[in-house]
Amino acid sequence: MNKQVQNWQGHSIEAQGLCKSFMSGEVTIKVLDGVSIGIAAGELTLISGPSGCGKSTLLSLLSALQKPDAGRVLILGQDITALGQKDLQRFRLEHTGFIFQGFNLFGALTALEQVQLPLGYLGLSDKQARERAMQALEEVDMLHRVASRPAQLSGGEKQRVAMARALAKRPQFLFADEPTSALDGENGHNIVDILHRVAREHGTTVLCVSHDPRLIGSADRVLAMEDGLIGREWRPEKSAHGESNAVK
Ligand SMILES: Nc1ncnc2c1ncn2[C@@H]1O[C@H](COP(=O)(O)OP(=O)(O)OP(=O)(O)O)[C@@H](O)[C@H]1O
Ligand SMILES: [Mg+2]
Repeated sequence: MNKQVQNWQGHSIEAQGLCKSFMSGEVTIKVLDGVSIGIAAGELTLISGPSGCGKSTLLSLLSALQKPDAGRVLILGQDITALGQKDLQRFRLEHTGFIFQGFNLFGALTALEQVQLPLGYLGLSDKQARERAMQALEEVDMLHRVASRPAQLSGGEKQRVAMARALAKRPQFLFADEPTSALDGENGHNIVDILHRVAREHGTTVLCVSHDPRLIGSADRVLAMEDGLIGREWRPEKSAHGESNAVK
């Protein structure tokens, strides 16, 4: 994977004809009906659409958490749908970070421990892992709470710790499913700013699912899902300050 990662010049993520259905009792529900899309590195791409339209399902296929019934996902030119479970797990560990609506933090661990834990699996020494974890916590402005456990943190702080945990791996791909939906205005805004910064400054491919108008308005590119497909896509206009003016 690494050689291909370095040499690849095309779309960072490419979906080709993705189909996915689920059984509900006797009935088959077709959620994705041949989705084809290319996602660029260094951008914040947003998937929007009504509840139940298949946004999380699409994200899980593009991030190799689930396999499609038909179609392929190419990551930096490599067909990840053809990889076995072990290779997929390795790929996710080494190249991807995830942020979820519910934060998914461990209740017993401090902020520093939450961020440091996955770095141990990546083979970093305790010292390296600690340094990198501290850097990531600084990036999300959480250095003052490194010893706090989730029960002592606000929603916005918990999401920033989750963000630091994802960033500390320095992933090429950052996936976020409704990362701001449990947060109020200012905290939501902070998370949106961090997602942008990660794309711009680290060149990360940031792919986010959201209904949140703040996020829709400030994304580099929006993909709107309808009827199992990407129905429409657009680039929100930005003002001179980089803020969104309007969504076309
Ligand atoms: N593992 C599963 N088994 C059965 N049905 C599923 C499964 N996962 C998703 N579905 C169904 O697929 C459809 C799309 O679900 P998905 O979670 O992708 O929607 P979504 O757009 O993310 O919705 P929301 O905005 O509410 O999070 C829904 O009808 C859901 O019930
Ligand atoms: Mg969802």
